[in-house]
Amino acid sequence: MRDWQDAWWNALYSDGGFFTRGERPSGHFRTAPLVGPELAEALLCLLDRVDHGLGRPSTVDFTDVGAGGGELAEAVARLAPSALARRLRVTAVELGPGRETPGVQWTRELPGEVVGLLVGHEWLDAVPCPVVTVHNGLWHRLLVDEEGTEHLGPLAGPAELDWLRRWWPGGARAEVGSTRDAAWAEAVRRVRGAALAVDYGHLAGARPEHGTLTGYRAGRQVAPVPDGSCDLTAHVAVDACAAALDLPTALIGQAEALRALGVSATAPPSGLAATDPAAWLAATAAAGRARELLDPAGLGGFHWLLHSTEGTPAPELVRA
Ligand SMILES: C[S@@+](CC[C@H](N)C(=O)[O-])C[C@H]1O[C@@H](n2cnc3c(N)ncnc32)[C@H](O)[C@@H]1O
Repeated sequence: MRDWQDAWWNALYSDGGFFTRGERPSGHFRTAPLVGPELAEALLCLLDRVDHGLGRPSTVDFTDVGAGGGELAEAVARLAPSALARRLRVTAVELGPGRETPGVQWTRELPGEVVGLLVGHEWLDAVPCPVVTVHNGLWHRLLVDEEGTEHLGPLAGPAELDWLRRWWPGGARAEVGSTRDAAWAEAVRRVRGAALAVDYGHLAGARPEHGTLTGYRAGRQVAPVPDGSCDLTAHVAVDACAAALDLPTALIGQAEALRALGVSATAPPSGLAATDPAAWLAATAAAGRARELLDPAGLGGFHWLLHSTEGTPAPELVRA
């Protein structure tokens, strides 16, 4: 029997854990980098705005924290326009094994300094946190065994209670997001330029009554059992992460952000099918992929949390 936070960390990140043994996230759930090149293209547009605001330094970073299988980092390295590619350094930060990815350097540690854009794409939801529940009117930590059976643990401590009072005052059960706030602040502190977290999450006033801790295995949502057999994840209290840093910030939905960065689901003119069927087919497929990224009930409902630490202020970076 362990505290949920320890059990979660152990299941994903200890020796032989779900991610450390090399499970590719793409084998278990669909994320936006797998849809097609559109997310990488949009992030290159964002990187260009950041780079411009920094005065086009001799080396510009794209650092992908929690890079998983490296699909996003690989696409950014491959699709970068040549003028940028000459100065671009793409780094994948990942606790799991490094991959052979052209144009991408792999590391387990956050770099000391990032000059450019740091991205955490579905990283924070995989950062373990305390799980608490209300019993007789008081918040308690929850314990769990390897089969996933939960037991009431000790009273939540002062740090968890402070966080809950500020960020999750109601509800019957919650994930205490202070570990995500700290992980995010630690990453952003290293950045000259901008830092972006993209994740599913919730905001004050609309927290889920029973939290969102769950498991994913082979494309299916499963019970959260901390035995290393599945990913364990919970939505991110993104407004709490935003407040962890006193910086210019934009907190907007993915659909709005992607539109501002040039992603469009507009179908090609039907006349194109007669004059250039191959171009019509390619444009129709691209519009379909964009629709998936912009869908407010799906990936378009993800949150984009963007901070600027130097150069162009964050809200301007995602202005259309
Ligand atoms: C949900 S997956 C997302 C993968 C990828 N970014 C995507 O969107 O497809 C989360 C990834 O973050 C990694 N991760 C979690 N904490 C990390 C840390 N402190 N440093 C580096 N990688 C971490 C996990 O190993 C896992 O591969």
